[in-house]
Amino acid sequence: MKDHAFDGFLPRINSNHRTVLIAGGAGFLGSHLCEFHLQQGHSVICVDNFQTGAMANIRPFLGRPNFSLINHDITTPLQILQPVDQIFNMACAASPPGYQKNPVHTMLTNVMGAKHLLDLARDKGARILQSSTSEVYGDPEIKVQVETYRGNVNTCGPRACYDEGKRAAEALFWDYHHSFGVQTRVARIFNTYGPRMHPDDGRVVSNFIRQALKDEPLTVYGDGSQTRSFCFVSDLVAGLVKLMNSEETEPVNLGNPTEITMLELANIIRRKTNSESKIVHLRLPTDDPKQRRPDICRAKTLLGWQPAVAFEDGLAQMIDWYRSELDGARLDDALVS
Ligand SMILES: NC(=O)c1ccc[n+]([C@@H]2O[C@H](COP(=O)([O-])OP(=O)(O)OC[C@H]3O[C@@H](n4cnc5c(N)ncnc54)[C@H](O)[C@@H]3O)[C@@H](O)[C@H]2O)c1
Repeated sequence: MKDHAFDGFLPRINSNHRTVLIAGGAGFLGSHLCEFHLQQGHSVICVDNFQTGAMANIRPFLGRPNFSLINHDITTPLQILQPVDQIFNMACAASPPGYQKNPVHTMLTNVMGAKHLLDLARDKGARILQSSTSEVYGDPEIKVQVETYRGNVNTCGPRACYDEGKRAAEALFWDYHHSFGVQTRVARIFNTYGPRMHPDDGRVVSNFIRQALKDEPLTVYGDGSQTRSFCFVSDLVAGLVKLMNSEETEPVNLGNPTEITMLELANIIRRKTNSESKIVHLRLPTDDPKQRRPDICRAKTLLGWQPAVAFEDGLAQMIDWYRSELDGARLDDALVS
């Protein structure tokens, strides 16, 4: 086993105190999860290979006695010597340009990475949550995606390394729970947005805001009638934590059911940024889903969770953050690749 032993110095403070390992902790969602747990007084071990993560996302936490960083790729086994109570597996490039750059590595991250973290959870007796995705539904044939829907995924296209990798990871989680009794949780996350989403990562909200702030044309794929549902990051983090602390081992959708078209999104962002940008239409990428809308009945019933942040309010926070990014506040912290 490759030696990435971490024997840790993180203190156990009281009976409510937890040590939480966050794989992918330097990424968009992972860094918000790190911040949430640090604010709660827990100890955080952030594991990341900085493929799409940014040091800037976690720099404010470095040096805190209850935060540690391990630069590690989860496609190889991870050994941690100290106790771990909870593991969040957030490690995987999430934007199509990010995960399609090295599709074999993406598949291995999803499958071997999940296995290595499940082995760690089994060894530590820790709970483990998988950041699965609405992409397990592929290009859905039903308008509202409920957890029982089995999806419409192309096993051979450019998105398959991500979509099928995430599906295989869900199967591994199910197997570790039923074969070994590991306490697994599976969140099927729908599109999430907010501060710390890398401006150049190629996802639609970040693309449009960056283009609008620079008065560049907004690039809409196809005719822009395809829909997405966007959840603000603080709502998503609250959902992930509730799911982790629940007893639910079956997959749960987490997302905001308010659905908008990409053309509507482009126009909202132009208005909110007072941008003069034109809209240009580009070819629709292969296997791009035509619609996305979560059924969140299970999350509401089982977790008492639903999104609280209105889209325009979340967008305003994200636009403010992007303005400061583009003003150069973190220019030294571009993607570490
Ligand atoms: N943001 C969304 O809208 C969304 C939607 C559905 C699912 N998800 C899932 O949530 C998770 C986090 O997404 P995000 O938006 O924060 O993406 P992100 O790209 O910002 O973060 C992913 C993090 O994982 C790290 N990483 C990637 N491969 C790794 C490896 N092999 N070993 C160690 N670290 C690795 C990256 O460096 C990065 O810090 C991903 O698993 C993604 O599939 C996100």
